[in-house]
Amino acid sequence: MNYTFAQYQESADYIRGKIGDFKPQVAMVLGSGLGFMGDVVENPIVVSYRDIPHFKASTAPGHKGQLVFGTLEGRRVAVMQGRMHHYEGYSYEEVSYAVRVLRLLGCDTLVVTNAAGCVNMDWKAGDLMLITDQIKIFMESPLRGENLPEFGVRFPDASKLYTPALRQVARNAAKNLGIELKEGVYMYFPGPQYETPAEVRFARIAGADAVGMSTAPEVITAGHCGMQVLGFTLLSNMAAGILDQPLSEQEVLEAAEACKDKFSRLVLECLKQ
Ligand code: 6GU
Repeated sequence: MNYTFAQYQESADYIRGKIGDFKPQVAMVLGSGLGFMGDVVENPIVVSYRDIPHFKASTAPGHKGQLVFGTLEGRRVAVMQGRMHHYEGYSYEEVSYAVRVLRLLGCDTLVVTNAAGCVNMDWKAGDLMLITDQIKIFMESPLRGENLPEFGVRFPDASKLYTPALRQVARNAAKNLGIELKEGVYMYFPGPQYETPAEVRFARIAGADAVGMSTAPEVITAGHCGMQVLGFTLLSNMAAGILDQPLSEQEVLEAAEACKDKFSRLVLECLKQ
């Protein structure tokens, strides 16, 4: 199934009916633990996913399923409180549908956040990572099917998906705040099961520093339609096989909760700069 350009426009038109002439500049996808940042948006206009034509619901725990329009640090933002994942049963096109709608509404920048497992043995749970690049070999492209030239070209370049200038902004922001920021490669796994120890070793050999179940589809779609991208990962836990202990959803959510202050201050400082 492929969406048509007209469908993206219908979604955008519905949202325009709610937000009037407010034009968001920065789209933000908030992952596990950071969803609360949607609640601190100033002069918020909230639009529920279930009311927007062609939008899917977000069923993952801690994902509210609504768009919040307003300002953060003086910047006009569109915050996705909750994202869609492939493991929820959605296609990659569905997973990244909202990114194109936000592009049509005027966003030229996408900020993505997630919680992921740490593969890099020199790092520890609770560290924050600036995403420099991604690996997504275990997934079909969200761009598969007829290309929509209104958004971008058939064979988009992916050599700088995570915008170098924004990475520099993030480094400066972290430095200003005295927050330690690692930098590394995010590797996508479709889930919902966490990786096996062998898969984690494979990821490490492949050059990954973190493994997670989100973000890569949205970033490919954003790059295709010419958006700048900034991405952060909260390394909520060590990936399988590093510590001799099983991994649970609960552990991930608790780690995200414990780091949310540091994480949100960093994202806000980036918006400011
Ligand atoms: Cl270890 N793996 C994946 N795929 N996602 C995660 C994770 C691990 N920890 C948090 N999210």
